[in-house]
Amino acid sequence: MKYIIITYGCQMNVHESEKLAYICEKMGYELTDKREDADLIIFNTCAIREGAEDRVFGNVGALKKLKKKRPETIIAVCGCMTQKEQTANYILKTFPFVDIVIGTFNLPNFEYYINAVKKGRQLEILNEGDPDESVPYKRTSGDNAWVNIMQGCNNFCTYCIVPYVRGREKSRSEENILKEIREIVSEGKYKKITLLGQNVNSYGNDLKTGENFSRLLKKICEVPGDFKLSFMTSHPKDLTEEVIYVIASEDKILKDIHLPAQSGNNRILKLMNRKYTREKYLDIIRKIREKIPNARITSDFIVGFPTETEEEFEDTMNLVREVKFDGIFAFMYSPREGTVAAQMEGQIDEKEKRRRVNLLLQLEKEIQEEKKND
Ligand code: 5AD
Ligand code: SF4
Repeated sequence: MKYIIITYGCQMNVHESEKLAYICEKMGYELTDKREDADLIIFNTCAIREGAEDRVFGNVGALKKLKKKRPETIIAVCGCMTQKEQTANYILKTFPFVDIVIGTFNLPNFEYYINAVKKGRQLEILNEGDPDESVPYKRTSGDNAWVNIMQGCNNFCTYCIVPYVRGREKSRSEENILKEIREIVSEGKYKKITLLGQNVNSYGNDLKTGENFSRLLKKICEVPGDFKLSFMTSHPKDLTEEVIYVIASEDKILKDIHLPAQSGNNRILKLMNRKYTREKYLDIIRKIREKIPNARITSDFIVGFPTETEEEFEDTMNLVREVKFDGIFAFMYSPREGTVAAQMEGQIDEKEKRRRVNLLLQLEKEIQEEKKND
C-alpha cells in the first residue's frame, strides 16, 4: 500500500504533513511520488490566498479519472481550507470521489478517519486542538528539523484568514518543547532546528507561568550539542528588545529575522490592524541592525489592500528602498471570506494589484542586484 501527500502553503503545513506521513507509515503505507500508484492521496491545503485554493480545487478535480479506474484509492483533503465549514461542504458536494474531509485540528486522529472510511465518507471539523499532543513526526526536511511551539493566532489582521482556521494562540509547554529538542539533537542528524508559530514572539502569553519567547530561546540554546536555531514568524509589534538581545548574544541562533511589514503606510497599517506604525517598524529595524550588524532581515508585503492609493503604495516602495531587505515576498491582496477587509469598500481591481506587485517585485530585484555588487 502506498501514500502520497501533496502539501500547499507555509512551513507549518509542511511540518504537519510530516505528522501525517508518520501516521501513514505506522499504518503500513509506503511513500510514492506518483498519484497513479497511490492507495492513499492526501491534500494538505492552504487558505491564505485565493490562488492557493484554486490550485487545490484544480488538483483534486483532476483525480476524478484516477478514482474511476481505481475506486479503492482513498482521497483525503485536510488543512486550512477545509477547516472552513463552507469550503469543506463545497468539496464534498463538488467532488463526490473525495473520501475524507477534515480540518486543521483533526490531523492527530488521521488513522481513525482512514479506518472509518469503510463505513462511508468522513467529514469532521474540530474547533480546538491540543498543542502538546504527542504524535511523532517523520522528518522530511533534510538536516532541518521543524519544531512547532504554538498553535493559532490572536491578532486578527483584517486581511488574514489564519485566526479563523487555526484558532486562538495556544503555546506548547516549555518542558515538552525542550524534550523534543533534546531528542532531535541526540539523533545527531539535524544541523538546524526551526521553531514554528504564527506569531512566535507571543509564545507563552497564554500560559501565565512565566514562559516567554526570549526565555525559551535561551533554554533551547543551553541544550548541549552542535546545532543552529532559527524561528518564524515574528510580528513587529511583539518583537522585544530582550529577544533582539538574545538573538545577538547566542551563537547558536542564526541571524535571520523574518519580520513582515505588510505596508509602509500608516493609514493602511491601521486598516490592516497591524498595531504598529511605519516609524515604529523602522525603529525596530534600526535596533536590530545596531545590535546584530550581520542580521539578514526579510519581510512580507501586501499590495492593493482595499482603498490603498497610489501614494500609499509608494510609501511601501519607499520603505523597501529605505530598509534594503535581504529578501521580500510581495503579494496581491486576496479577499478572504469572513475577514473584515473582505467586507471593506474600495476593493482594488486585479489589474491594478498586478501592476503594483510587479513594480514592487522589480524594485526587489534591483535591490538584490545592488546588494550583490556591494
Ligand atoms: N492576501 C494577500 N496576502 C496575504 N497574506 C496573508 N493574508 C493575505 C491575503 N488575504 C500574506 C501576508 C503574510 C503572508 C504569509 O501572506 O503577507 O505575511
Ligand atoms: Fe495572519 Fe496577522 Fe496572525 Fe500573521 S499575525 S497569522 S498575518 S492574523
